[in-house]
Amino acid sequence: MNARVNGVRLAYSDRGKGHETALLLIHGFPLDRRLWAAQISGLASAVRVIAPDLRGHGCSETSAGPLTMDQQADDLAALLDHLGIERAVVAGLSMGGYIAFALWRRHADRIRALVLADTRAEPDSVVARVNRGTTMAQVQKTGAAALADTMLPRLLSPSSLATPRIVAAAHKMMAEQPVAGIVGALGGLRDRADSRPTLPTITAPTLVIAGAEDALTPPADGAALAAAIPGAQLAIVPRAGHLSPLENPRAFNAAVRAFLRSL
Ligand code: MLT
Repeated sequence: MNARVNGVRLAYSDRGKGHETALLLIHGFPLDRRLWAAQISGLASAVRVIAPDLRGHGCSETSAGPLTMDQQADDLAALLDHLGIERAVVAGLSMGGYIAFALWRRHADRIRALVLADTRAEPDSVVARVNRGTTMAQVQKTGAAALADTMLPRLLSPSSLATPRIVAAAHKMMAEQPVAGIVGALGGLRDRADSRPTLPTITAPTLVIAGAEDALTPPADGAALAAAIPGAQLAIVPRAGHLSPLENPRAFNAAVRAFLRSL
């Protein structure tokens, strides 16, 4: 499905429409809603699942970069308006988590509860900011598939890397992202705010999820994130790296289902 919000056309999936509780799934970088394929199919029996392609990603349109976390959060609030959804359980993975923090700062009244998967509150370090610029130049020269080749080994757990089906799904999704969107997203990631001061302000029920073998945001970071958010729960997904919902959907979905039941 498609909706025009804030001047761009966003593509999204909307499943389980009869349910009162809505779950908004926010993918990471450089990905799209296919990250959530097993959540869209597996959780729609319990909740209404909304999974957009963010501006600049997947089948959605892009705009001039940088694609800021604030812009993405405003797009999602506008998408909820379009769908007539007042409040949603908001689940974000990695960049999706950064966007969830922005959504909390800008549209807290739209958030029923939060799921923060494989993400962090810290902004980019000086070195990371420089690296974003290098990647922006590189991807314009060599394209999305080359970026996927470089990133994939760090994104997946060793057992996922030995599973051709998982490697193929993740690589295809990354290789199909539009270069303009990747460059815009890198600018937004580089410029994102420090969300650490936001954490103690979070009053929504929160579940932090970490892939047990996530090399980018290790479980210890997930534990620290959960400890900084009042009352937050922590779930570790075994045999999963940074893309935990794709790598071990059974354990990921079980953690989300248990959390939804607790609300
Ligand atoms: C993501 O998975 O969204 C990225 O790892 C986020 C980032 O590069 O900071």
